[in-house]
Amino acid sequence: MRTINIGIFGLGVVGGGVLDILQKNRQIIQARLGADLRVTRAVVRNPGKSRNLPLEDVKVSDDPDSILKDKSIDIVAELMGGVDLARQVVMTALNGGTPVVTANKALLAEHAREIFSKAYEKNVSLGIEASVAGGIPILRSLKEGLAGDNILEICGIVNGTSNYILSKMTDEGASFDSVLAEAQKLGYAEADPTFDVEGHDAAQKLAILANLAYGTTLHYPDIHKEGIRHITPMDITYARQLGYTIKLLAIGKRRENMVEARVHPTLISKSHLLASVNGVFNAVFLTGDNADATMSYGRGAGALPTGSAVVSDIMDVARNLLVGIGSKVPPLSVMEDRLTQLEVMPIREITSEYYLRFQVRDHPGVLASLTRVLGEKNISIQSMFQPSQSDNPDEPVQVILITHQAKERDVLNSLHVIAPMEFVMGETQLIRIERF
Ligand SMILES: NC(=O)c1ccc[n+]([C@@H]2O[C@H](COP(=O)([O-])OP(=O)(O)OC[C@H]3O[C@@H](n4cnc5c(N)ncnc54)[C@H](OP(=O)(O)O)[C@@H]3O)[C@@H](O)[C@H]2O)c1
Repeated sequence: MRTINIGIFGLGVVGGGVLDILQKNRQIIQARLGADLRVTRAVVRNPGKSRNLPLEDVKVSDDPDSILKDKSIDIVAELMGGVDLARQVVMTALNGGTPVVTANKALLAEHAREIFSKAYEKNVSLGIEASVAGGIPILRSLKEGLAGDNILEICGIVNGTSNYILSKMTDEGASFDSVLAEAQKLGYAEADPTFDVEGHDAAQKLAILANLAYGTTLHYPDIHKEGIRHITPMDITYARQLGYTIKLLAIGKRRENMVEARVHPTLISKSHLLASVNGVFNAVFLTGDNADATMSYGRGAGALPTGSAVVSDIMDVARNLLVGIGSKVPPLSVMEDRLTQLEVMPIREITSEYYLRFQVRDHPGVLASLTRVLGEKNISIQSMFQPSQSDNPDEPVQVILITHQAKERDVLNSLHVIAPMEFVMGETQLIRIERF
């Protein structure tokens, strides 16, 4: 039986998971692949660190060249994270014709053009399944399962930390800060949670999903990112009373020569499948013009779920090596000469329905003033909701307006006009609504 030698960069959560799976499921993998996968080298920051991993046959070093210059290495797995060294490692391996498997969403989102172009140019396999939604094989579904479909819409819950926080806030009526503190204690949120709760992590995953769906390389910084810090228990309660749940969604839609690519808290019907994706779980809802709606659900992170995606990529790449081809599926779904450079539609240009919560003085005529300004900007109101309020005149009353489809630019312009009005007692909450 042929042996395929793997060099792993990183023996942390994901690298450790990969080693465990390769040991635990060795017989199954051999039976399915017809070859033996062996990790022969690993590179880490601190080779002296004690690790509870099956490393008996692995040479561990802190020198990247120990893998990159070893001609016996058949596949490089980049599982370190970070961008600079990871970029050098991946580019060097691809340049030298060595297939690469990576879980690095930051690298793939921020340097998509450079990395994918190199994989095309060298006709080398590049496995990226673990970079989006950990254990859910969503990228393979997109590239292969839905290969004959025009992808009309991508809608994902792809950040477990934010979903955990929003789920807990919904279940317990607790504030963002208290749930975040609890999530940090339980290890579901980082000490610095910014990357997760401000939408950056979800935006990187959306960039990868949209690139595969539309055969493009979006300019990552142009993706609109809005986090969940400003969502209050009040909004969650009112949304629920109106028939909605609030989720942090990563949304991608093709719009002629542009792509809507945006991450933000979103009201979705509480009867939609995505509304029942709770806790740290992830789900990606894809709509194809033929397959119609599909949803994949599972764990978005963790040693074994993410390791599972890495190992499946390694097996896929190994199969290409065994039959002596570069890659039978193009890295970004489309042939190199069909790769486009679509632009991200500016958020002000999108059209959506909106939940607007105004905090106003309880005076006659306030509602008329609000609807007049909105009407002047072509925004029509679908429904109005005024929850029961305290009798204290110093406290604002809450007025919730749900709009019909409106241009975001018009909505922002009206809020700009309303903000200085004398009856306004606090900042207006704006949350987009998505219907499926
Ligand atoms: N964790 C997840 O559930 C998950 C899910 C999906 C994708 N990912 C992605 O997978 C990648 C790895 O994440 P992780 O959670 O496994 O990270 P991690 O637990 O922090 O492990 C990182 C590993 O890389 C090594 N490393 C870091 N910087 C290095 C450097 N400059 N030179 C050599 N080695 C270096 C570390 O060495 P030492 O051990 O010596 O410090 C460590 O073994 C990231 O791109 C992440 O975004 C992670």
